[in-house]
Amino acid sequence: MRVPLASSGLRDSDIDAAIRVLRSGNLTMGKEVGNFESKMAQYLGMKHFVMVNSGSSANLLMIEALMRPTVGKAKLSPGDCVLVPAIAWPTTIWPLIQLGLNPIFIDVDPSTLALDLKAAQEFINQSGIPIRGIFPIHPLGRAIPPSLLGEFITKNDLVLINDVCESLGSWIEGKHAGNVGEASSFSFYFSHHITTMEGGGIATNDDLMVDDLKSMRSHGWSRDRSDAKFWQMNKTSNDSKFLFVSTGYNVRPMEIQAAIGSLQIDEIDTFIDKRRRIAERVSESISSTRLSVIGEDTFSNDRNSHSWMLIPILVSGENASAYKELVLAELAKFEVETRPILTGNFLAQPAIQRITRHAVDPSKFSIANLMTQNAFMVGAHHDLSESQIEHLCFSLKSASQLYSGT
Ligand SMILES: Cc1ncc(COP(=O)(O)O)c(C=O)c1O
Repeated sequence: MRVPLASSGLRDSDIDAAIRVLRSGNLTMGKEVGNFESKMAQYLGMKHFVMVNSGSSANLLMIEALMRPTVGKAKLSPGDCVLVPAIAWPTTIWPLIQLGLNPIFIDVDPSTLALDLKAAQEFINQSGIPIRGIFPIHPLGRAIPPSLLGEFITKNDLVLINDVCESLGSWIEGKHAGNVGEASSFSFYFSHHITTMEGGGIATNDDLMVDDLKSMRSHGWSRDRSDAKFWQMNKTSNDSKFLFVSTGYNVRPMEIQAAIGSLQIDEIDTFIDKRRRIAERVSESISSTRLSVIGEDTFSNDRNSHSWMLIPILVSGENASAYKELVLAELAKFEVETRPILTGNFLAQPAIQRITRHAVDPSKFSIANLMTQNAFMVGAHHDLSESQIEHLCFSLKSASQLYSGT
């Protein structure tokens, strides 16, 4: 029996909604997107949510809006240094480089896989390099506490933007992940907590930023802005539909995506509860072996803080890396899909090494290396059937006991 890392997440009701929208003839961004955005803002406890076509586009727009606001001063400027985690997703890092910023890589915390704020503080204290911003990833369903982030940015006078693409549904200290700072990005790619097939968005409490995000999503035009009339009256006599006020892209979502998203977000608590139960059972199945679930501390403490996008598993003990390979081979025989922790140590990827200005020696990041060598992930998707979950746990138990003599 196959246990995939992810499944489509689409239910009959989602497909019916997509067909209804297709039949309506209203295909490009419109009322459905507006409706989904209101629901998302309410769920996250944020003032605004702007839907786009992917989490990657959300990251790009957040950075661009901070660098090229139409009103007020830019919060980030070309050349500024921004702290990022050494285990990252490529499209967390690329927008910084593409827009002329300097990503400064910091190792991750082994117990959370998030950017290690203590290591970041040491870097700031010792390097003397002026740092302007921090762009942490809330990893794999685990929220970074807002109190820690708030204290860190206040102490170091930093601009905070959050990549929450992996952690929809994670709450800590009574707040959704990414609830401090300028803005946060989300992804609704099909393996994530809710799906719009492809899709993403940005949450922010900033009334000015949201207008820029809306312009930048649609070629830079003024149409969807709250201050569209102001631009029309004061700035030009152009046709108001074709008035361009900022830089931009076309990263709009489609109505069918939003119609599906609106149904999915209504069910998010059920999806996440199932994911938590899968993670707990996986953790039980490998207890007292050399394998352990990273994040299992949240089962007894702050259970709600984790929404489990996937389940990261660390192999410990002697020759852990070789032992991991044996476990992976065994899991493959059981048809259990596995994968590395995101990209592993991002600095070891050819793409970043080829950009010599930003290439850093990957061996400097000992925890990122450890996770690349000794850790792997299995699926936690809420669509897994009871027999798939049983098979996943049985396979992990068998694989973890095979060579260890336990
Ligand atoms: C941390 C992080 N950021 C950004 C993204 C990009 O999201 P998308 O696939 O929707 O472009 C992902 C993808 O999973 C991710 O893990």
